[in-house]
Amino acid sequence: MAAERINLNQRVAALKNLPEVMKLVWHAAPWIVTASLLLRLLVAVTPLGVLWVSKNIIDAVVRNVKTPGSVHAGQIWFLLLLEFLFAAGALVLGRAIDYCDARLADEFGRDVSLRLMRHAANLDLMLFEDPEFYDKLERARLQATDRVSLLNAMGSLFQQLIGLTALAGSVLYYEPWLFVLLLGCVLPAFAGESHFAFLGYSLAHRMTPVRRELDYLRTLGTSRDSAKEVKMFGLADYLHGRYEALSRHLIRNNCKLTRRRLRWGALLAAVGSLGYYGGYAYLVLQTLELKISVGKLTFLAGAIAGSNASLQSLFSLFSSISEQALFLTDLIAFFAVRPRIRSKPNAIPAPRPIRRGIEFCDVLFHYPGSENLVLRGLDFRMEPGEKIALVGENGEGKTTFVKLLARLYDPTGGKILLDGVDLRDYRVEDLRKEIGVIFQDFFRYDFAVRDNIGTGRVELVNDDSALWEAARKSGVDQLVANLPNGLEQMLGRRFEGGVDLSGGQWQRMALARAYLRDAQVLILDEPTAALDAVAEAEVFANFAQLTRERMAILISHRFSTVRLANRIVVLNGGRITEDGRHDALIASRGQYARLFEIQAANYR
Ligand SMILES: Nc1ncnc2c1ncn2[C@@H]1O[C@H](COP(=O)(O)OP(=O)(O)OP(=O)(O)O)[C@@H](O)[C@H]1O
Ligand SMILES: [Mg+2]
Repeated sequence: MAAERINLNQRVAALKNLPEVMKLVWHAAPWIVTASLLLRLLVAVTPLGVLWVSKNIIDAVVRNVKTPGSVHAGQIWFLLLLEFLFAAGALVLGRAIDYCDARLADEFGRDVSLRLMRHAANLDLMLFEDPEFYDKLERARLQATDRVSLLNAMGSLFQQLIGLTALAGSVLYYEPWLFVLLLGCVLPAFAGESHFAFLGYSLAHRMTPVRRELDYLRTLGTSRDSAKEVKMFGLADYLHGRYEALSRHLIRNNCKLTRRRLRWGALLAAVGSLGYYGGYAYLVLQTLELKISVGKLTFLAGAIAGSNASLQSLFSLFSSISEQALFLTDLIAFFAVRPRIRSKPNAIPAPRPIRRGIEFCDVLFHYPGSENLVLRGLDFRMEPGEKIALVGENGEGKTTFVKLLARLYDPTGGKILLDGVDLRDYRVEDLRKEIGVIFQDFFRYDFAVRDNIGTGRVELVNDDSALWEAARKSGVDQLVANLPNGLEQMLGRRFEGGVDLSGGQWQRMALARAYLRDAQVLILDEPTAALDAVAEAEVFANFAQLTRERMAILISHRFSTVRLANRIVVLNGGRITEDGRHDALIASRGQYARLFEIQAANYR
């Protein structure tokens, strides 16, 4: 019982979304919405017109049968033509409405998808690591493209409402209680429909994680990235088995509900028809007793049938809308999520040039949803123009350090200063412009070379000389020159004609992005991990020169190159434990010396 009450509340709450939804629809294409509503208004009143004309025709014919010659042939012809015009007009308008609906669905999909992308881009990175948020995003994404039926339903609802008012008005005018009878018979169907609509939604909601897992399994089974391992480990059967079991579970649940819905729906629809035939029988009796004319009988029978159909579809439209509105709860909830990391109202622009450098003051950090402190009171200073090599074992927090500096996350405790001002006081977009990062899991865009480098600074995406310059700096120019289509060469395997690169070549592509960027702080998180020894030596030899006047942080596990840096900083146990030149650190016999020795020993 308690569950029932919550259901009802949720359903009612979902209807509160409707104004919001209508705003979304209107925003997508105001003109199409207007046109569609006008057309529907016209179509809605045609049934009444048709009925009215045919009533006149029948009455005229009956009169003529009683007293031949009492009706002009011209009069009949005129009425017939009028009825034809009504009927044909409705058909033509119906096509026009279909056209509007199709256009509206396209525009709605486009508009909502764009808003989704824009909104998602502004949200905090940490949200994307939260599975629950991911489910919400996934549902919202589906809703963006899959709510065509909602648009149709809202349009039809409007149309049926007008049509019903017209028809029911006439039924009410002649036989008020007939109308009440109809209403009473249709209400149970409505209650049933909306009940099942709700059950359907809550099932779909519960099944979202299952559906996501299915998607994932399907990708694993069919994607290029996983193909190698799937073959080598012979995982195909294992993956198929999991997919099979999960999808059966999903289908079983759906079937159970559909069957119940079918049984109840059929029963309640039968009750609804009973109302119509009761009314019809009454009218026939009235006509036999000569209380109403034959024309009026057809008119009222038609109007009742029409009202009945309208009412039924009105209720089912209404429950379908409330069902869809329930689904849209997630879309609206998604749009309601606000990023926590964003510019304050009176944020200041990032300094240019940077005069005092960067400072970490007693920075504490743990990832949301984890108790484990990654940074434990980290202190660090860096002057303008300085270049630093940051080292530390796997999982010590080097990448985390960079994420904090780029303000992808905010520290749990302590603060990070740029030129003496807390990062949180700067405009976020501005700050990120000044901090260029190539992450160790940098992205490989399945775009042309031009875009792969140009994403480093989109204003320059059409500036060939700048792109070539960046390619030269990262040592990828030869490769690009040798590609069949040069800068226009599509990379990756997703699109036709794409060329895949080696890990190291992709990395140089990412490096070119970093060099294209006009940031004052350049951070490369293991930029050379996939490069061969010669290429790495080259990158390092150029690095200091290429980052002249900039601040640069380089994260690397290769001590043969790290040792060349002027300042080496060791991250250990959530703090900076060592800081200095190679020789000094070796002499102090700390963590750095130990790690260096281990690597050096392997080469002897
Ligand atoms: N998104 C995340 N959510 C929760 N914990 C995370 C997340 N990313 C990293 N961690 C944890 O934070 C710690 C530091 O990770 P980080 O990636 O900063 O290490 P790293 O020094 O860059 O390591 P590597 O040398 O392997 O790149 C690790 O213990 C890791 O498990
Ligand atoms: Mg890392």
